[in-house]
Amino acid sequence: MIEKTKDYAVKDIKLAEEGRNLIHWAEDHMPVLMKIREDFEKNKPLKGLTLGCCLHVTKETAVLMRTLKAGGAEVALCGSNPLSTNDAVAAALAEDGIFVYAWRGVNTDEYYWCVDKVLDHQPSITMDDGSDLVTRLHTVRKEGLEYVIAGTEETTTGVNRQKIMAEKGELKYPIIAVNDAMTKHFFDNRYGTGQSTIDGILRATSVLISGKTFVVCGYGWCGKGVSMRARGMGANVIVTEVDPVRALEAVMDGFRVMPIKEAASVGDIFVTVTGNKHVIDEQVI
Ligand SMILES: NC(=O)c1ccc[n+]([C@@H]2O[C@H](COP(=O)([O-])OP(=O)(O)OC[C@H]3O[C@@H](n4cnc5c(N)ncnc54)[C@H](O)[C@@H]3O)[C@@H](O)[C@H]2O)c1
Repeated sequence: MIEKTKDYAVKDIKLAEEGRNLIHWAEDHMPVLMKIREDFEKNKPLKGLTLGCCLHVTKETAVLMRTLKAGGAEVALCGSNPLSTNDAVAAALAEDGIFVYAWRGVNTDEYYWCVDKVLDHQPSITMDDGSDLVTRLHTVRKEGLEYVIAGTEETTTGVNRQKIMAEKGELKYPIIAVNDAMTKHFFDNRYGTGQSTIDGILRATSVLISGKTFVVCGYGWCGKGVSMRARGMGANVIVTEVDPVRALEAVMDGFRVMPIKEAASVGDIFVTVTGNKHVIDEQVI
């Protein structure tokens, strides 16, 4: 059962206290954002703005949401991935007066219902992670475009999607590509995704990575991080890559590189970090 009111839709509002503890822990580890919050609380630079956010609903995002609200903005938030929402964090944010429409395990219809709820707030700024909200706004929710001034896009795939829209002259407002910042792709994609991908595999399987043949498809920023961490845990890492220069880079970094068809017959664990579909398809399997 999902708890829906006019202001939020979350799994269970009673999880709020647990969520608040998680958020406070994150706040203790995010000094820059907390410093910005001090200034925002005094000067309210976002007063009068409505922010429509489609992001991973985690304790770290919660620190950002609370900071934006402290700056005077009205903030509406949905998840950017069906499985990354922390239900306790969503409940805590709902109690804090953020308009949250997110729960872990949404199906496709529910996912877009949540995106639409955010767009119902008629955001003046969009904050996207993968371009689902921006794409929705430019297709089935075009009426919302008249309220939007600008936006931000977090991730490689979202930036790629929006660049294509811009090239075709279809992107109707300016969007800052957060992913292009060195501090994003260089650190978050490489070290952050490198670590969290391994963490996800361990939580799901408890498998011993040491000694396994670990196939990483894509040697971009995330692929470099995943390969590095898997090797650090004792895996025998194979990289597959369609870009010859990046494939060569992987060889020079000391990894075995081969086509996915060959890797499929020897790999134990497979991770795709390409932003592409059908990297491992039925034929390969
Ligand atoms: N969930 C998260 O927290 C998170 C964080 C950062 C990035 N991402 C996503 O991860 C993906 C990768 O991001 P990135 O910054 O590493 O991108 P990137 O563009 O730096 O790297 C992608 C690489 O994959 C390669 N590639 C494409 N198709 C391939 C195929 N079929 N087989 C093998 N290689 C292929 C490309 O040549 C490229 O080198 C993107 O979808 C991005 O949005 C997710």
